[in-house]
Parts: sequence; C-alpha cells; structure tokens
Amino acid sequence: MTHADLGLGMRLKAQAGWNQIEADWRRALDLGPNGCFVAELDGVPVGTTTTCIFGSTAWVALVLVDAQVRGQGVGKALLGHVLAYLQERVVRTVRLDATPVGRPLYEKLGFAEEFPLSRYDGIVSAVDAGPAAVAVPKTYKPMFELDRAITAVDRSRLLRRLFDERPGEVRIAESADHLGYCTGRPGALAWHVGPCLAAAAVGPLLLADAFRRHAGERVFIDIPTGNTAAVRLAESAGLIAQRPLFRMCRGQAPAEDYRRIWACFGPEKG
Ligand SMILES: CC(C)(COP(=O)(O)OP(=O)(O)OC[C@H]1O[C@@H](n2cnc3c(N)ncnc32)[C@H](O)[C@@H]1OP(=O)(O)O)[C@@H](O)C(=O)NCCC(=O)NCCS
Repeated sequence: MTHADLGLGMRLKAQAGWNQIEADWRRALDLGPNGCFVAELDGVPVGTTTTCIFGSTAWVALVLVDAQVRGQGVGKALLGHVLAYLQERVVRTVRLDATPVGRPLYEKLGFAEEFPLSRYDGIVSAVDAGPAAVAVPKTYKPMFELDRAITAVDRSRLLRRLFDERPGEVRIAESADHLGYCTGRPGALAWHVGPCLAAAAVGPLLLADAFRRHAGERVFIDIPTGNTAAVRLAESAGLIAQRPLFRMCRGQAPAEDYRRIWACFGPEKG
C-alpha cells in the first residue's frame, strides 16, 4: 500500500463505520512504508492492512476487507502475508486490538487475548479538575520514557510524529515524582482521546482535562477495562461503552501495565 491507495483505505474504513481520517492512513504509511499492503481479488483492490515495527514488537492495524468479498479468504491471505513479512524482519511479538468481527480470524492464526478494552463513546461533559499543562518538546523525552516503562515497547517514533501533528493538544501532568501525558486527534465521527499514559496520581487529572476541553463534542476513548478508575471517570463524563475490543498477541506478550493506561492510542497502535 502506498499513498496512492489512500482512496481505497478511506472507502473501506467508511464502509466499516470507522473513525480514521486521511491523516491516520498517512501516519501509518509513513511509519511502515514497506509494511502496508493492499489485497487484490482478480486484479481489483479489496483489502488493506498496515504494520508498524517497534524493535522486536510489531502492531498490525487497519485490517479491512470489502464487505462484498468477505468470507472468501482475503483477510486470511492478507494476515498470512503480513506475518511472513514481519518474520523476515525478526519481529518476535505481533500485537493488535481486535474487533469482535476480527477476533475469530486472529485466533485461527495463533493470536491469543492479552486483556480486554472497551470503546467509550458519547457527547462528553466536563468533569471537575484543574487544567493540565501544555507539553513542550523539551518535556517529550521523559514522556517517551514513561510510555516505554508502561508499554514495555519504545513507541517514541510514533509519539513524536503524533505530537508534531498537534503540539497544542499534548498535555503533561506532574506531581512529586509522578508523571503522565495525554493527547488526542480528530476523527471522521468523533474526537479520539488518547493516548493517555500516567501514574495513578495524575491520570484522572489528565483525562478530566481532555474531557473539559472537548466538552459538548462527540468523543471516542479506548480504555483497558481493568483500569476501573478510568472507566468510572469516562462514565461520569457521560460516555457509554459502545463495543469491546481485545488486545491480542502472537508470540511472547510484553509486560504492559494496563493499570497506567488511561486511554489507548487506539486500535492502530495500542
Ligand atoms: C475481519 C475481516 C478482515 C475478515 O476478512 P475476510 O476476508 O472476510 O476473512 P476470511 O474470509 O479470510 O476468513 C478467515 C477465517 O476467519 C473466519 N472468519 C472470518 N470472519 C469471521 C466471523 N465474523 N466469525 C467467525 N469466523 C470468521 C473464516 O471462517 C475463516 O476461517 P477458515 O479459514 O477456517 O475458513 C472482515 O470481516 C472485515 O473487514 N471486517 C470489518 C473490519 C474489521 O472488523 N476488521 C478487523 C479489525 S481487528
């Protein structure tokens, strides 16, 4: 897949009712220029998938097959191609966030569930909290280190790209030696809050700050259901669990600390 295939990606994601905009596809293509693929059936493009490699761990995302040709093995062929591509690059762990529709396909290919997430959706209300500070580039390094400590993967090239797209959206909170960050991005259907990774002492402030700034807008946020404080806060802001997602892994699962994940990046990169 190249930037010339953006139209296909946008068509398939609209058909599936997903939230991505062109900027999301561009980011995926720029972060994995050789690892994004189009499936063709009789010469007609009908499917997409993207990959992003972080060291020995890779994320697979945007697995979409045209509704007209589902159930004919296209999804399985795409995933088989991607897994072979990643194996050649010495990737030991492949991860993704599966929808309920995608989950059976991934299970057949050897993926196992790590933990469940819930997508919350709704017109968000402001919740009481002091404002968080806007992060500046010189504070990014400790934020990347925090992200690495929590996810057990170095996602700094993804985060740098995301922060550079909307620097004014990136927030930081510090209290004693507790640190956290939160950002977000626009979508076709809703503002996507996340990633927000933070110590328990500052996570609520960061989420509340995002809800306050986007009060009155439709918001999506993907929360590990095990982070009950984040779930409670989303519910108190009027958001409703829309659908489950499943973080899945093939190979050794990294020791990710989901209790400090207040909002995921989203299904594309955990
Ligand atoms: C999920 C998706 C990519 C599957 O693509 P597909 O081309 O229809 O899948 P395939 O025909 O290759 O099916 C692969 C295997 O998974 C099984 N499978 C696929 N969808 C399934 C479903 N909804 N329920 C049960 N099994 C399913 C098939 O039976 C097949 O098994 P088999 O090889 O033993 O026969 C496609 O349904 C889709 O684009 N869905 C909407 C977007 C989405 O949710 N993507 C997943 C994101 S995580």
